[in-house]
Amino acid sequence: MRIRLWNRPGNKRLSVLSIWLGVAVLLTVPTHTVLAQAAPVRAARRVQTAIGTNGMVVSVSRPATEAGVAVLRDDGNAVDAAVTVALALQVTWPEAGNIGGGGFMLLHPKPGESPVCIEYRETAPAAAHALTFDLKETTHSSRVAGVPGTLRGLQLAHSRYGRLPWSRLVAPAIELARQGFEIDASLATSLNKVLKAAGPEYAELHRVYGKPDGRSWQAGDRLLQPDLARTLQRIAEQGPEDFYTGEIARQIVAEMQSSDGLMTQQDLAGYLAQVREPVRIPFRDVEIYAPPLPSSGGLCLAEMFPIWEELHLGEHDHGSPSSVHLKVETMRRVFLDRARYFGDPDFATLPPDLLDRDRLRTLAHSISPDHATPSRDLAPDLDIVDGGTSTTHFSIVDSAGMAVSNTYTLEQSFGSWVVVPGAGFLLNNEMGDFNWKPGLTTTTGRIGTAPNLVAPGKRMLSSQSPVLVLRDGQTVLVTGSPGGRTIINTVALVLCSVLVEGLPLQQAIAEPRFHHQWLPDQIVVEQSLQATQPELIENLRRMGHHVVVTKAQGDAHSIARDPASGRVEGVADQRRRGFAQAE
Ligand code: DON
Repeated sequence: MRIRLWNRPGNKRLSVLSIWLGVAVLLTVPTHTVLAQAAPVRAARRVQTAIGTNGMVVSVSRPATEAGVAVLRDDGNAVDAAVTVALALQVTWPEAGNIGGGGFMLLHPKPGESPVCIEYRETAPAAAHALTFDLKETTHSSRVAGVPGTLRGLQLAHSRYGRLPWSRLVAPAIELARQGFEIDASLATSLNKVLKAAGPEYAELHRVYGKPDGRSWQAGDRLLQPDLARTLQRIAEQGPEDFYTGEIARQIVAEMQSSDGLMTQQDLAGYLAQVREPVRIPFRDVEIYAPPLPSSGGLCLAEMFPIWEELHLGEHDHGSPSSVHLKVETMRRVFLDRARYFGDPDFATLPPDLLDRDRLRTLAHSISPDHATPSRDLAPDLDIVDGGTSTTHFSIVDSAGMAVSNTYTLEQSFGSWVVVPGAGFLLNNEMGDFNWKPGLTTTTGRIGTAPNLVAPGKRMLSSQSPVLVLRDGQTVLVTGSPGGRTIINTVALVLCSVLVEGLPLQQAIAEPRFHHQWLPDQIVVEQSLQATQPELIENLRRMGHHVVVTKAQGDAHSIARDPASGRVEGVADQRRRGFAQAE
C-alpha cells in the first residue's frame, strides 16, 4: 500500500534499483496471504503480504501470528492480541521471544488519542556495578542477565487497555508449548546454531532445546516444551506476579545462587514497567511516535528527519549515490550523539538543545555533499583507540483502530544461553548493552562514555524502535525491527522510503538496507545491494566511504492502514521468514 502523504514536487526519477524492486512488488497478487512473486536476480520472497479490512497481525512466527488473529476474532483488541503474540513467541521463536527479557511497546489506544509507550526494559541488578564484569568472559552466563521486564510490561498494557481475561491470552502459548508445533526451516537453523555453539556446560539449554534423538532439527519436526508449558500455566493462573515474587522468582534466584549470578529476590520483586510519553516527531502531515530513553530510537529519529528536510533529501533520486551518502552521513552524526549523550533518563541528562532546529541545521550543513566525513574528525575531544541477533518485532492493529508496535529482546540470540532450570525459559544477556569500560571508545564500536555506564537499578541503553505513524489522529503505519544498533537505521530507512520518497510499504520493506553507526567508520550494506548496484558501491567508495557487506539487516514486520477505506496491509519481511495474517 502506498501511503500518500503529500504531493512530491516533480516526483523524482527512480533508480534502476527502485524500478527493479517495484517490478517485484507490482507482480505481487495481494490476495489474502500471498507471497510476493520472484523478481529477477535474488528478490524472491522478500516480503509476504496479507490484505484485510479489520485487524492484522504480522510477526516473525506463523503460529504466533495465527494465535494473535484468533484473539482478534474472539473480540479481543490489539493489546490482547499483543499479549498473546508476545507469549506465543516465547514458545515458537525462542531465540528472541521471551519472558526472560524486555522491550518497548508503542500503543495507540484509539483514534484521536495520543500513543503511549509501555517501557519494560531490563534493569541492572542492585549488585551490579561498572567493574563487576569482563564481558568477554561472561557474555553467556547468568551474570549478564538484566532483571526481566516483559511480563510486568505485558501486564501493565493489559491492565490498562486489554479486554479479554489474562488467562485466555496465555492459553495459546501453553497449548503450543504442551502439544508442540511444527518448526519451520528458520527455527530449525536457529536451534541448530545455538546447540552447536553452546558447550556441554549449558546442559539445561541442550535438554530443553535439543532434539530428543540428539540429531539436528529439520523443518517439519515437532518441538515440545513441557517445562515451559508448566511455567506458562502458572502465569495464566497466578498472573505475572508469580514470575516476580512467587515460584518462578524462586526458580530464577536458585539459578543465580548456583551460578554466581547477581539477580536477587529483591531485584525481581522491585522491577517496575513504566508508562512513558513517546518521542513525537511531527513530519509534514504525519506524526511519528517512537520510544523515548532508555531507547535511543526515538531521539535518533527525531534528529534524522529534520536533518533530511534541511538537506532536501526527497529531491535526490531514491537509491542514488547522493541519497545514500546523505542518509549515511546523517546516521554517522546521529550515532555520535547517541554515543555521547544517551542513557537511562533517571541517570543521564541530555543537552537541552539536542533537538533544537538550529543545532540540527548546523549538523545538516556539516555534511559534505560528495565526501565522507571521517568519524574521528567529528569527535576530536573523545579519546578513540583502535581496537547478532536476537530481538523480534511484531505489529498489530484491530478493527477499531487500536495499534500496537512491539519490539522485545533477549539481546543476543538465545540471550545468556541460561535456561532457568525446570522452568523452560531463557534469561537475557542485556547487561551487554551498557558501556563497559569507562573511557574506552574504540574504532571497532565499543563506547566508553559516561551516560550509559553500569549502575545498580539502571536501565541499559537500547536501540529498539517500535514506531507508529499517525495522520489526523489515526494510525497509518506500524513498523519496527530487530538488529541491535542497526534497528534505528532499518526503521529510519523504512520510514524515509515511505514518508519522504513515497514508496509503497512492500517495496520499502523489500529494498536493500544499509547502516552506519559512527564507529566503526564503515557503511554496512546488504549483499543484495552489492549484487544489484555495484556501481553505487563504487560511487560511495569514491566519496571516501569504507563499504562492507552483510547478508541481511533487520526484519521489519509492518502494517500500513488507510483509515478512509479501511484497508489494512500487513507486510512480513522475509529476511527471517515471518507471517502476516488478516483478521
Ligand atoms: O536493546 C537493544 O538495543 C539490543 N539489546 C537489541 C539487540 C538486537 O536487536 C539483536 N538482534 N537482532
